[in-house]
Amino acid sequence: MATTELPELYYDPYDYGIDRNAPAVWARLRDEAPLYRNDEHDFWAVSRYDDVLAGMLDVDTYRSGHGTVLEMMTEREFPMPMFIFRDAPDHTLMRKLVSRAFTPRAIGGLEDRIAAICDELLDPFAGVDRFDYVDRFGAILPPTVILALLGFPAGFAEDLRDSMDSNLHVDEGETGGALATSPNRPPGSVIDEAGNIGSAVFDQVPALCELRRAEPTDDMLTILATHELERADGSTSPLTTEEILAYTALIAGAGAETVARMLGWAAVLLARHPEQRALLQADRSLIPGAIEEILRYEAPSPVQARWVEHDVDVHGTTIPAGSKMLLLNGSGNRDPRQFPDPDRFDVRRKIDRHLSFGYGAHFCIGAALARLEGRIALEQTLDRFGDWHVDESEVEWVHTSTVRGYHRVPIQVSN
Ligand code: HEM
Repeated sequence: MATTELPELYYDPYDYGIDRNAPAVWARLRDEAPLYRNDEHDFWAVSRYDDVLAGMLDVDTYRSGHGTVLEMMTEREFPMPMFIFRDAPDHTLMRKLVSRAFTPRAIGGLEDRIAAICDELLDPFAGVDRFDYVDRFGAILPPTVILALLGFPAGFAEDLRDSMDSNLHVDEGETGGALATSPNRPPGSVIDEAGNIGSAVFDQVPALCELRRAEPTDDMLTILATHELERADGSTSPLTTEEILAYTALIAGAGAETVARMLGWAAVLLARHPEQRALLQADRSLIPGAIEEILRYEAPSPVQARWVEHDVDVHGTTIPAGSKMLLLNGSGNRDPRQFPDPDRFDVRRKIDRHLSFGYGAHFCIGAALARLEGRIALEQTLDRFGDWHVDESEVEWVHTSTVRGYHRVPIQVSN
């Protein structure tokens, strides 16, 4: 009897085709190679929910200190003062310091500001029948919120943009002026199209820290400028300017691209499943659960790399110390051993624990903020645009080994 042979099982996080089709490749990994070895790129990978979760929890075996992005990993530990790339005790102490800015009260206090930023970003599209949801909204909201979290004054990005625009003004008709004066481009060129906060913002950090030392408030820059860090040797000392900038860059980097990808997935998945969107239109209390399902279904950051500290047995194979292990949290979220009918997108699904924010010691410190941004963005999108349509032949992917999703999602709206 003739059998249909499947192509050889191959996975790496760099192949664009695999990246687009990742859930299907991950399904084969879970079934056929729950411990996968890639010789070409020299890594191991686990893909089942239980294995990924166990890997995230076992921080003595699976270390972050050599980097958590495959191509950045080195034999030597990272010298960078960013706690995502550190292990205990440094990690614990550095995380403790900044966690003061992520208390439920601090994050809840941003709700009105986030709603106002959404208004400002979405108002220009009233009556417009088509715009790019990620480029014009999803990628701009998160870095603007991060500036608020850090404690940059409201309107800071706009002021900075205006001063840069007047310095860089190019007469109409010349190409340089087009971006500076283009309508619907708030808060402007201090945040680039990929949602990265530009260096003009970081340049302001030392001066703002000086201001906070003189007049402390309760924002993150005050915490970074005025609190002492407990060092691993038991001493305490204020953060250096380099450390403050590293914290700022980490928060900006980790909290912008990921939320932008989540919002892109929200737009696409709800357009693909109009019956699910109708449930949210009819009952807004379903939105927080819908955000969890969007995160589970399409993890914005689906691959976390670790350094194997000592020999460890996984599925009957000994992985030697000094190996690189990929924890495929995006795959764990689609594991039928954990989630019934995992490839069904269901905003009413009861989810105990998905892996999109990681787990254990490195659990995403910005998870509550991401959830708040997702809820407000979705509420406002549903309020304003009702139904929308996405022609998926027009979307553009972002291909990096840290995030997975879209760079551009043009949506057709029926105001
Ligand atoms: C939907 C949005 C987000 C997703 C999917 C996401 C995902 C993740 C994941 C998977 C990790 C664990 C990394 C690891 O285990 O190595 C993580 C850690 C982290 N995230 Fe997020 N994140 C999001 C939003 C944010 C936001 C809004 C911020 C800050 C404003 C943030 C800041 C961080 C930081 C600082 C860490 C490092 C925590 C540590 O090492 O202790 N993230 N995030």
